[in-house]
Amino acid sequence: MQPSHHFERLLNVHALYAPRDFVAIDDTPMCLEIGAGKGKHALIFAENHPDTTLYAIERTQEKYQAFIKLATQKSLPNLHAIHADAIAWTAFAVYPKQIQTCFILYPNPESKNKNQRFLNMPFFELLLSKMADDGQIVLASNIAEYVSEAQQLLDSVWRLPYTKRYIPSSSARTHFEIKYLARGETCQELIITKPAQYSTRFDTLLPLSLERT
Ligand SMILES: C[S@@+](CC[C@H](N)C(=O)[O-])C[C@H]1O[C@@H](n2cnc3c(N)ncnc32)[C@H](O)[C@@H]1O
Repeated sequence: MQPSHHFERLLNVHALYAPRDFVAIDDTPMCLEIGAGKGKHALIFAENHPDTTLYAIERTQEKYQAFIKLATQKSLPNLHAIHADAIAWTAFAVYPKQIQTCFILYPNPESKNKNQRFLNMPFFELLLSKMADDGQIVLASNIAEYVSEAQQLLDSVWRLPYTKRYIPSSSARTHFEIKYLARGETCQELIITKPAQYSTRFDTLLPLSLERT
């Protein structure tokens, strides 16, 4: 079947290595946070949604240590703090259509290498294959140019519906959000929906941890 999008480059999943100390997960509905930082949003979300499982991934050791310290104190059974690169972890752990909501809150702007922005990366297609029908990706940024580029890519390349909203100045979901709003910067969020019937070239790919056993 033809993919629903027009993105050509294909992620070479076979070049990926399993994250260190990788632990497989069950194929049950879950939410994912990519680039969780010190975990402020993940902790609030898990507390407010005790029946929802959240995997929150952070690759920087220092931030992850701050996150896991707080997560351990709070002891939330539905929150899983993961120290890994989100690309490899998603490929090894996540089943097709498993993710209900994916949060990407204030990703690095990657001003010098726009190919590293999530919607410019072949990884985005893999992520879409892991999204449930009608699942949503929440992408927030304080950089207007990042958001408008993402909108163009959603319209012309990924062909995905989305809504945009401005983040109120009282919002305080993440450390970066607090910092940007305190500086008077405009923060915006795209809420991207994956329609049922949307297809990618990874739709039948099982977690690599299963493929390689
Ligand atoms: C600008 S910070 C924002 C952190 C947090 N979301 C916030 O708003 O306070 C972006 C974070 O994403 C993490 N990150 C970037 N790419 C990642 C990846 N592929 N896997 C895991 N974490 C990643 C970085 O280490 C960094 O902590």
